[in-house]
Order: sequence, then structure tokens, then C-alpha cells
Amino acid sequence: MQTLLVTGGAGFVGSNLCLAFRVFWPQARIIALDNLRRRGSELNLPRLEAAGVEFVSGDVRKPEDLQFGDVDVVVECSAEPSVLAGRDGGTDYVVHTNLMGTYNCLELCRRTRAGMVFLSTSRVYPFGALGGLPLEEAESRFVLPAGFTGQGVSEAGIAESFPLEGARSLYGATKLASELLITEYVEMFDLPIVVNRCGVLTGPWQMGKVDQGVVVLWMARHLFGGTLSYIGYRGTGKQVRDILHAEDLADLLRLQIENLSEHKGAVYNVGGGLDGSVSLQELTGWCEKISGRSIEMGVEKGDRPGDVPWYVTDTAKVRAATGWRPTRGVEGILTDVHDWICEHREDLRPILG
Ligand SMILES: NC(=O)c1ccc[n+]([C@@H]2O[C@H](COP(=O)([O-])OP(=O)(O)OC[C@H]3O[C@@H](n4cnc5c(N)ncnc54)[C@H](O)[C@@H]3O)[C@@H](O)[C@H]2O)c1
Repeated sequence: MQTLLVTGGAGFVGSNLCLAFRVFWPQARIIALDNLRRRGSELNLPRLEAAGVEFVSGDVRKPEDLQFGDVDVVVECSAEPSVLAGRDGGTDYVVHTNLMGTYNCLELCRRTRAGMVFLSTSRVYPFGALGGLPLEEAESRFVLPAGFTGQGVSEAGIAESFPLEGARSLYGATKLASELLITEYVEMFDLPIVVNRCGVLTGPWQMGKVDQGVVVLWMARHLFGGTLSYIGYRGTGKQVRDILHAEDLADLLRLQIENLSEHKGAVYNVGGGLDGSVSLQELTGWCEKISGRSIEMGVEKGDRPGDVPWYVTDTAKVRAATGWRPTRGVEGILTDVHDWICEHREDLRPILG
């Protein structure tokens, strides 16, 4: 591995990947490009510098910021990642960053014959179809009925063949549109590009906020105080997500990047899977147990637009293709997040507090 460009490289996922790549490939040149749009990404700059990762201030919306001559692999982690982005009418940033940014990165790949790992999202799956699953209410979470199967769905989770018709948020739509562009670049220009549709990613250095980064937000509120609410689904807190540690994602990317041509054109659902799933109610329990603190939990009964009650990643395809599996479970992830916040409490207070 010679030169890796990580766009959004100062963000949560990007910075963790850069640091993992430094360990995987000590001799590689690793470039982190970021416009520092996300509040808190600036806290990652000293970590990148200490690891010998080159930081470049740049914007994926601007082709002139992507004039690199000798890139081998682009890892596209830049994004406006909020599922609520654009709902207030401010659609420009999410579309230009998430869609035109991908296009500009693809053009860089075409010019330099670089491969790409694209971080897509489970949000490509429409919220109407996910909301229509016949969920049952167990004590602390929603569950699919035992033995239930439908197109692209089983108790193991949502597979790549889940139907794609319907609205999915501008965030999800810009990612799916990027995937379509990628398919064409793979076919027309024979570029080795792999797409990972990730569920909830989390871990230390995620600057969690109400609309993105719920696991860190939950633990931060337990540590700094403040309020949290179960929103929607009658305020039960039974909505379910699977969660994946950024270091587990890095382990997968290592396998993919080392054999990128084998994964050319592949689309994988990537996440913690059923074993790594948790409801909000259960998340509260874990945060209380690990932090030793509890906070009052509010309830907002009205559903949030575009929200889904249950998303668990069926990882069968990516496991079969790579041999990868996540190794860090819910308790381990939350303990890591807890310890990180405690260690950097004062730096994080203005952002997470
Ligand atoms: N965190 C998750 O749960 C999750 C889940 C699925 C997919 N993803 C994807 O993973 C990638 C990384 O997400 P994250 O959680 O690290 O988010 P993040 O907000 O922490 O990181 C994104 C980074 O991109 C930067 N950025 C934004 N606009 C940019 C632009 N125009 N030019 C250059 N840089 C820009 C931000 O400053 C930030 O540092 C995204 O593509 C996201 O869609 C994340």
C-alpha cells in the first residue's frame, strides 16, 4: 500500500480509519482531507499529526481540492451524515457534499486509476418499507416474529436484497445516487470500488448529537447531565439498531483494501448484526450500569419524520466474502465510549456536554 486518501479524514470514522491504517501499513502515505465542517472534527487533528497522517484542508465539493497525482485508494468518508439534513429547506449542502463530492472523488479515481471504498448507509433502504415490518413488542425492544422472512429480511436482519422503492431521506438518497454513479464508474472505467452500506457506527471520537451519533450522545448525557427523550413509537424506547465499533470497520476495510479487485462492484451491508443490536431502552440500561449514573428520561410520543423502528444488519454476504466478523460487542463499545469521554472530559464538554 502506497498512498491512501481518506476524505472526511478528520471526522469520526475517517480519523479512526487513518489511525488504524497507520498501524496496518506503517510505510504508507496517508492523507486525511477534510473541511472541518463537523463540530469537534478539529479535535482529531493532533491525533492525526501524532500518527504521521498528513492533513489537507479541502472540500470534496471542489474538484480543485482533489488534485492528487498518485493516489492508490480513496476511502470516501466525507459527508453530511444527518438523516434530517435538508428537512429545513437547506438542501444545498447535503446534495453537493454527498453526491457531487462522490462524483469528484470518482473523477479523481478515474484520472489516477485509484480504487475506492465508499461508505454508504443503511439509510438507502426506504423508511416506509422498514416501518411496515410486522414487529412484535417484547419487554425491552421490538422484535421480528420468530421465523419471519420477507424479501431481504429475516430475523438475522436486513440484507442487500431488501426492496429499494420509496423515500429514504435526502441523506439516504444522495448515498444511493452515489452508489449508482459508482456502478457506472466500475463498469465504464474498470475501477476497483466497493460499497459498504453501514448501520450505526460508533466508538471513541464520535461527536454525537441529537440527529447523528446517538450512542455517544446517550453516554455523554449520562456523564455530563442533561436531558434525553425516547422519541416516537409511543415513547417506549423500544426502537432497535445494531451498532459497530469503528475499529471493527477498520478491520473489514483492511481485508477489502488488501484484495480490492476481488470486491470490485460489490455492495455489502455492514454492521454489528443481531448480536450487536440494542434498543434505546436497553442503551439507557447499559449507560446506567457503566457510568453508575442515571438521568431522567423524557418521552415524545410523536414519531420523528423518516425514523425507523427496527434496523439490524444481516452481515451474511460480507462475512462470506471476506471472513470478517465484528469482535466488539455492545458492552465493550459502550465501555470504550465511557472511558474516552472520562479521559477527555474537559475538551469534550463544550461539544458533548
Ligand atoms: N456514523 C455512522 O453511524 C455512519 C453510518 C453509516 C454510514 N456512515 C458514513 O460514514 C462516513 C463518515 O461518517 P462519520 O460518522 O465519520 O461522520 P462525521 O461527520 O464525523 O465525519 C464526516 C467528516 O466529513 C467532513 N466533511 C463534511 N463535508 C465535507 C466536505 N464538503 N468536504 C470535505 N469534508 C467534509 C466533516 O467535517 C467530518 O469531519 C459518512 O460517509 C457517513 O455517511 C456513518
